Amino acid sequence: MDEPAFRTIIEPFRIHSVEPIRMTTAAERRERLAAAAYNLFQLHADDVLIDLLTDSGTGAMSRDQWAAIQRGDESYAGSPSYFVFRDAVRDLFDFAHVIPVHQGRAAERILFTVLGGPGKTVPNNTHFDTTRANVEATGATAVDLVIPEGRDPASRHPFKGNMDLAALEALLAGGADVPCVFVTITNNSGGGQPVSLENLRGVRALCDRYGKPLFLDACRFAENAWFIREREAGQGGRDVVDIVRDIAALADGMTMSAKKDPMGNIGGWLALDDPALAQECRNLLILTEGFPTYGGLAGRDLEALAQGLKEVVQHDYLRYRITSTAYLGEALQQAGVPVLTPIGGHAVYIDARALLPHLDPLHYPGQAVAVALYELGGVRSCEIGTVMFGRRPDGAEAAAPMDLVRLAVPRRTYTQSHIDYVIEVCGCLAERAHRLPGYRIVEEPDALRHFTARFEPIA
Ligand code: F0G
Repeated sequence: MDEPAFRTIIEPFRIHSVEPIRMTTAAERRERLAAAAYNLFQLHADDVLIDLLTDSGTGAMSRDQWAAIQRGDESYAGSPSYFVFRDAVRDLFDFAHVIPVHQGRAAERILFTVLGGPGKTVPNNTHFDTTRANVEATGATAVDLVIPEGRDPASRHPFKGNMDLAALEALLAGGADVPCVFVTITNNSGGGQPVSLENLRGVRALCDRYGKPLFLDACRFAENAWFIREREAGQGGRDVVDIVRDIAALADGMTMSAKKDPMGNIGGWLALDDPALAQECRNLLILTEGFPTYGGLAGRDLEALAQGLKEVVQHDYLRYRITSTAYLGEALQQAGVPVLTPIGGHAVYIDARALLPHLDPLHYPGQAVAVALYELGGVRSCEIGTVMFGRRPDGAEAAAPMDLVRLAVPRRTYTQSHIDYVIEVCGCLAERAHRLPGYRIVEEPDALRHFTARFEPIA
């Protein structure tokens, strides 16, 4: 008998332990919003029905990860759990030095403390906010050199995360003091869009020509590798593990937030080949993170991550992950919600500027959409636009290239009926979009303002 092809995407797991969701009313949520000064980071998570704020550290661990936690060895130095972790990292990313940290930004802080400094320039396809902040905190300049299609929400380029090679070459040839070149896979701030193997090879060639080390910000490496398998000529049918190893072989090092694809609730690492640089980084690690065989993590965390790395590269998991995110994105398009295309790996990005054409970008259309999604349906999303990126280091304010609202899907956490509910809430929002007010900021810190800024609606 032929094997019939079924349309329904089933979660390739069963539920083993459940967490209750507290139901709330729109009236309650309006009250909570005012108390949080319309900043969704200031809500109590208990007051959220479906939390799509981030896919970072919010996923469900597997039975085998919880079992691995029991094997955690908490020795201060030389814990066997470190070696399990190191070997799992090296099986995919074969770098000589693997330095655990408590999360991705700790790796960024350490690396840029050594490589950054006034007068330096760090190129990336698009810096994530903490990456940019850590570059700028050293006095260096962070420049985003994603291809032009990567800045156009409607472009359907299959690898919108690609680096603009001509722009990178112009920067390197122009004599800028570049300590390293970064590529973020997938390109989170640009819509969870992948980078092709071909583009990475092009970046590598430029790094070789100009003698620069290439680093990956590899949080969502497995999703990126799956997109390469699906979309890049000659890559279909390959094992994702081999694609990941090819990616790693092109780089000199990586920073990692293990709260994403490695399926951890906490963790990260810095890995690299250069022994002198690794030594400098370890010296800084000891100041704030801990001894190099645990670096800010418990032995049990290291074990859970080692197991997570084995699970995230499984094809059944990745097929479900990418297809179910696309299911959300395609349903939103059908409901008349403009979204960034193609649909990203970990998230769907609503194009708030297109949905709310009556709002000036400096009245934060992304914030308006995010607030309304919470008020209407208790769905928490994240503005990635002028609130997050509109404030320059000198304090001036300018519209970000795009005003997006990210619906990030935690790994293995929500079922299809949760996602169907989100689709319904977004459809309801689209019908009321023309009536949504803009926002103004009434109080903000100097850096990373989106976490703590206070807003008020513009009457
Ligand atoms: N790089 C990228 C591409 C990220 O997406 C993140 C975190 C980091 C670095 C920093 O890692 O949080 O472990 O310190 N992104 C989360 C998000 C916070 O919601 O996208 P971290």
